Amino acid sequence: MLEALGAYSVDSVEAADVVVFMTCCVREAADVRLYGQVASMKNIPLREGTPLSKRIVAVGGCIGQRDGQELVDKMPHLDVVFGTHNLASLPTLLTEAVQKGGHRVQVLESSTEFPTDLPTQREHEWAAWLPITIGCNNFCSYCIVPYVRGREKSRTIEDITEEAQRYVDAGVTEITLLGQNVNSYGRDLYGEPRFAQILKAVAGTGVKRLRFATSHPKDLSDEVIALFGELPCLMPALHLPVQSGSNRILKEMNRRYTREHYLELIRKVREVRPDIALSTDIIVGFPGETEEDFQQTYDLVKEVGYGQVFTFIYSKREGTPAAKMEDDTPREVIQERFDRLVELVQAQAYEQNQKDADATVEVLVEGTSKRDANLLVGKSPKNQTVHAPIPEGRTIDELAGTYVSVKVDTARTWYLSGTVVD
Ligand code: 5AD
Ligand code: SF4
Repeated sequence: MLEALGAYSVDSVEAADVVVFMTCCVREAADVRLYGQVASMKNIPLREGTPLSKRIVAVGGCIGQRDGQELVDKMPHLDVVFGTHNLASLPTLLTEAVQKGGHRVQVLESSTEFPTDLPTQREHEWAAWLPITIGCNNFCSYCIVPYVRGREKSRTIEDITEEAQRYVDAGVTEITLLGQNVNSYGRDLYGEPRFAQILKAVAGTGVKRLRFATSHPKDLSDEVIALFGELPCLMPALHLPVQSGSNRILKEMNRRYTREHYLELIRKVREVRPDIALSTDIIVGFPGETEEDFQQTYDLVKEVGYGQVFTFIYSKREGTPAAKMEDDTPREVIQERFDRLVELVQAQAYEQNQKDADATVEVLVEGTSKRDANLLVGKSPKNQTVHAPIPEGRTIDELAGTYVSVKVDTARTWYLSGTVVD
């Protein structure tokens, strides 16, 4: 959209006439950073030769949606605020800000349509993210997402398949389907979830690697689980956020499944795909979480054996039900539990990678290592990072976006390394 206005990207704020912040408010840290960063824009001089009399600063996304006018009240040098439902208005808002000055704040309560017509630009020509739903209906008690992203909206199967086919025809070999809860895809359109149909339809485009995120355990169906054994393109990796291993806390979180249900899902998934790499999200320090509750989370992690766990300290989000819940657990106690969990997670990641310590894995090459330009870096089917020396006579430009076989010789906590054999 900005390119259509004649803009181009630069790699420093100093060189930019227009700065757009796309924001997240899922945890407080992102909030604090945004306010700090926008404030700092005031002190950075404009580049020489710019036609503008002032740098145009815009804030969009979830914080724009939540705070709207309040952002410009607090930071008068901010020019444009837009929300999650009107990204398409950004070019107009920026143009008006340049031509007429003043503040442009536009935040809509909801969107009527799925924003499918916006221009896109991909980071890699061989991989594409494909949103299939936006918004969320789940209202987990700690989470701000449903308030800032609105209700769940699905795109039609035809729309998604057509876009996927277009990507595949253009040379994309890896597609990742996206949504807050992909498993309930289609409920708003068809009266029932049709995620399994989407997986089959996108597999039908001939894409080599298919992935998806994120799954909600309450909606992950047997039909979808079975597809891990049926669709060769569906990669053996599943991100299934558990959040807590304590049934009492899961209930307080309004997650609508139990620890037992979750473990049963894991059992079923492994039955179909024994080698599947599992990852999850966990919140430590939810209001009222006791040592016993935490211990149940710890034990669950131990029992499952994850390749990767994203751990978060609970962050109070105003406006959510959990923000009103009492909590007298000292910060140090929460931090100590968090550290204990992180230690387990790292040990587990190392242990899981050992399973592939002498495997031969197919790697989609992405580029070179930041530390060593002679090393190629790519992703295995399980989404592990893999390093290998660039074979003699080959260059990274010709390898990027292609698949190579790597014979692994070393498995570390966060990556595998080996040599290209094919
Ligand atoms: N505090 C901490 N973590 C949170 N998440 C969502 N809301 C909060 C919160 N208030 C985490 C959940 C979710 C991930 C994307 O962010 O674990 O799965
Ligand atoms: Fe937030 Fe729960 Fe929706 Fe995920 S499923 S976005 S945690 S409300």
